[in-house]
Amino acid sequence: MKGKWRQNLHIEPPEGWMNDPNGLCFFDGFYHVYFQYSPGTPRGESVRRWGHCVSTDLLSWKYKGVVLDADIPEDRDGVFSGCALPSGDHIDFFYTGNVMEEGDYDYVLEGRGANVIHVSSPDGSSMSSKKILLRNSDYPDFCSCHVRDPKVWIENGIFKMVLGARTKDDKGCVLLYEGSDIASLEYKKCFSAPDMGFMWECPDLFEIDGKKFLAFCPQGIPQGEFKYQNLFQSGYFTVEGDKLSDFEEFDYGFDFYAPQTFTAPDGRRLLIGWMGIGDESYTNPTIELGWQHCLTLPRELTLGDDGKILQNPIRELDSLKKNTKTIEGETWEGLPFEINASDFADNVSACVSGAEISWNRSDGVLSLHFTNGEGFGRSERKIKISSLESLRIIADASSLEIYINGGRYVMGTRFYPEHRQVKIAVNGASASVSRLRLNDTLVAIGEALIDFIPDKQGCEFHEVGSFSPATGGAPANVCGAFSKLGGKSRMITQLGKDPFGDVITRTLNEAGVDTSYISYTTEANTALAFVSHTSDGKSTYSFYRNPSADMLFEPSEVTEEMLGDCYALHFCSVSLGDFPMKDAHRAAITIARRQGAIVSFDPNLRFMLWDDRDALKRVIWEFIPDCDILKISDEELEFITGCSDIDQALPLLFVGGVKLVILTKGKDGADCYSALGTVSSVSPSVVAVDTTGAGDGFIGSFLWKLRSLGIGKESLDDCPLSVLKECLDFANRFCAVSVQRKGAIPSYPELGEL
Ligand code: FRU
Repeated sequence: MKGKWRQNLHIEPPEGWMNDPNGLCFFDGFYHVYFQYSPGTPRGESVRRWGHCVSTDLLSWKYKGVVLDADIPEDRDGVFSGCALPSGDHIDFFYTGNVMEEGDYDYVLEGRGANVIHVSSPDGSSMSSKKILLRNSDYPDFCSCHVRDPKVWIENGIFKMVLGARTKDDKGCVLLYEGSDIASLEYKKCFSAPDMGFMWECPDLFEIDGKKFLAFCPQGIPQGEFKYQNLFQSGYFTVEGDKLSDFEEFDYGFDFYAPQTFTAPDGRRLLIGWMGIGDESYTNPTIELGWQHCLTLPRELTLGDDGKILQNPIRELDSLKKNTKTIEGETWEGLPFEINASDFADNVSACVSGAEISWNRSDGVLSLHFTNGEGFGRSERKIKISSLESLRIIADASSLEIYINGGRYVMGTRFYPEHRQVKIAVNGASASVSRLRLNDTLVAIGEALIDFIPDKQGCEFHEVGSFSPATGGAPANVCGAFSKLGGKSRMITQLGKDPFGDVITRTLNEAGVDTSYISYTTEANTALAFVSHTSDGKSTYSFYRNPSADMLFEPSEVTEEMLGDCYALHFCSVSLGDFPMKDAHRAAITIARRQGAIVSFDPNLRFMLWDDRDALKRVIWEFIPDCDILKISDEELEFITGCSDIDQALPLLFVGGVKLVILTKGKDGADCYSALGTVSSVSPSVVAVDTTGAGDGFIGSFLWKLRSLGIGKESLDDCPLSVLKECLDFANRFCAVSVQRKGAIPSYPELGEL
């Protein structure tokens, strides 16, 4: 089961420890976020690597794996923080290789290696070999061994780099380097300021509307009542020539550190920080669940009237707002949600579960405090503001981000409410609350099984010599297709507590499918299916499902949470026989419809599983009216509708909620019918080696494309035909690649290959 406190909108590690965001950039159609990652150790004991996530919309993130490992002498004790510099056809990365010499050292003046290392990548995932650009001996004499976190950019054709550092006499500073190319970076000058701590980490130098800012994270500033309340700080100076002035903190909450900025393709400067701090005394209960920490939501930076930076949540978030309603008295809301408040009285309070934000005009103190144990050691953070103009609170499953006065002040904190449904109340203001529904996940329900593929093709079942196992089951394949393209998918099924069940879970995980809601039982085994194919296209199946674990999946096991982020729910007919799994389908469809998700049905007939063909036909017709998208193949048309001609069949198929009918015609391509008309797409002509899972790949890739073009359930009815055509073309190209390779999921291409 997926643990509680898992965030919906925030990047977090699949397991283990996360800290700083690294290498933020937009490249080749994707936003890339890398992060400090110690998989396997939620307390962060193991060396840091770089984990990698991608997104096309800054809302839905997909974890892609570890891309940089600590595997050369110069980074053996950690691939520390760094940045990305995207250019036309590749990304250059710069990071600190951390080395801790063995011996009796203080690790400040001796014993620590800090190397600036360069790698490049054509796609953001595969990395070139590592090249050392700078070593300790290259840094200015006044530096201790603490020099790290390169941020590189190009300004008027010149490469520039800042590095955070600690001087030998314990002052924090930022080193600036310049050069005509990456290999010739030379030290130019040092930025520093009195009484600003012993070490500055994670520097960043950028402009907003022509105004320059130097951001960094000072360590060692004494804590104060309204300022510098955390152990380590994070903020920025305004830069004029060599002069640094007006230090301002980025965030006044409990959990914020090591931010980095980058530019979006539309020119916006975006910031992402670590929603955590090193060495703070408070704890995170997710450690017990095997993971710790997350990143902040991306924030848009703009210039305020007072010359300070305003931070606001990315505007993309607005597209998730649903069911906005006025808050009156106390209400209960399901996380994630957003509260907006204005028109403040003299005393204001806003409560989200055990977190209270209060302000009063007389002393101007705005406080964020925990009234129960949900802060897990977090107590109170305060700022002083003479007027309160706006308050916006973004609440995810275990975080709050509070934007005050148009983003002039921000407070970010983790909190740990027991349930996703939390109590909220706002007093002394007019306020509204909106659900933030991110529907990015393809959820498939039904069978996942082991297909046994024959060693030879073109023979009868009894002539097969041996069979090899491969993960299959149409719904599982559809998830595989969606996830291999970079989408998020989740399989809902039950497997046997047996080694075949483990194989399926493992294969699905490897393809990026969320398996955390799969159940396991000892009541029955994982389903198996042996298959042979004759040369004239006849397939013989032998199923081991009498019953199998998937069939016993109970409707009571289907929860709202499994479908909370559902874009489309997909199912087939194999699991609609007379057993509990059929009712589980009903339950899932009911929730999916209530959530506003697309329901997609591919009957995918398997006659040998039905003693009574009429029963099969009846159950298909029982479910068709509940779907929005119906995919059938030309071979299935007549059995299902009684008509061999699609034009006659269509009026029958457009029943209930059906909005799209997709007719697949094997190598002849596919047609899509909607209320607006018909579009067709021919398949690229290829020599098919194995068509296993081709139909599943078709609908999986069709749904992926549909989502990537921004079509949700509400826009299906009037989805332009040109968009449908684009989806069909894409799915045909996807299948053309798939049939040239063996197997189902392993044969599916990734986006880059298309
Ligand atoms: C900031 C930091 C960086 C360093 C990284 C190591 O949190 O200490 O200075 O590169 O974390 O994980």
